[in-house]
Amino acid sequence: MTSPAAHYDRMFRRLEKARWSLSDIKFDAVDKTLVSPTTLRFLRINCLMELSSLYAVRMFLRDFREMPDFCQFMSIWYYEEMKHYLVLREYLKLWDLEPDVASLGELDTELSPAPWPPTLALHYCGELRLGMWYHRWSDEAEEPVLAQIYRLIGNDEFRHAGCYKEFMEEAASARPELLLEFMQTCKWMLFNPTGDKHPTTMKADRDFDAAVTDRIEGYAEFRVMIQSTIRDDDEAELRRQVLATLSRLAGSPIATMRELAVHTRRLKEGRARQMAGSRRPVAAEASLI
Ligand SMILES: [Fe+2]
Ligand SMILES: [Fe+2]
Repeated sequence: MTSPAAHYDRMFRRLEKARWSLSDIKFDAVDKTLVSPTTLRFLRINCLMELSSLYAVRMFLRDFREMPDFCQFMSIWYYEEMKHYLVLREYLKLWDLEPDVASLGELDTELSPAPWPPTLALHYCGELRLGMWYHRWSDEAEEPVLAQIYRLIGNDEFRHAGCYKEFMEEAASARPELLLEFMQTCKWMLFNPTGDKHPTTMKADRDFDAAVTDRIEGYAEFRVMIQSTIRDDDEAELRRQVLATLSRLAGSPIATMRELAVHTRRLKEGRARQMAGSRRPVAAEASLI
């Protein structure tokens, strides 16, 4: 039987086998005539978004303290996310358009503390969505080196989603009551995909703090460009995958968002009944005093 603390060990080996190197990218073969100024603006913001793993990893290590196995996995995740930042940065360097290192401190954000179960489900869906975006951008990139970079990053994001999913499966089997939180978070992530559904777009720790994306110049244009590249069938495939995971966790098929809503409501009612039931003996005891 797999020990509950064995994910990191297995994930390390699995991701090590699939890992690509910066030296695999032939930056000197980039055909600059195939890259438009719009693409470069998009890439610059994309690069800064990847840097946000820096703020996210601090949040993960803080909020997942009770899960050392997950915190160990963060060392791999953080390394790979920062490599995404680096490879995009190296690409931008060919035009001297890479973000200015001296100004990066202005983006620093302290993400608000939150319970770990919704964060886990949120990142599972988020990584799947990112993988989908990168693969779509890879298909549509005219410049072959950029298409290769997007393909590699997309593969990483899908593998990350797979790891988050395993942590969700383990958590749900140890504590079945977490299923409701996972479902509610996934429902929120799948509903209205045009909204900002990335952890770094959420409010920072203090009321007067802005989210990372509020501080990235041109982020609104970046959102519009994302929406123009992503198709309805991409989102439908994302929904299919998330619902398949939730079906497995629930032990019964959930094929549509409507079925997910019904299932979530049933679990919520069950929990409310349970809580009402667990309150009753306290009232009974009180009446004895
Ligand atoms: Fe990434
Ligand atoms: Fe990722």
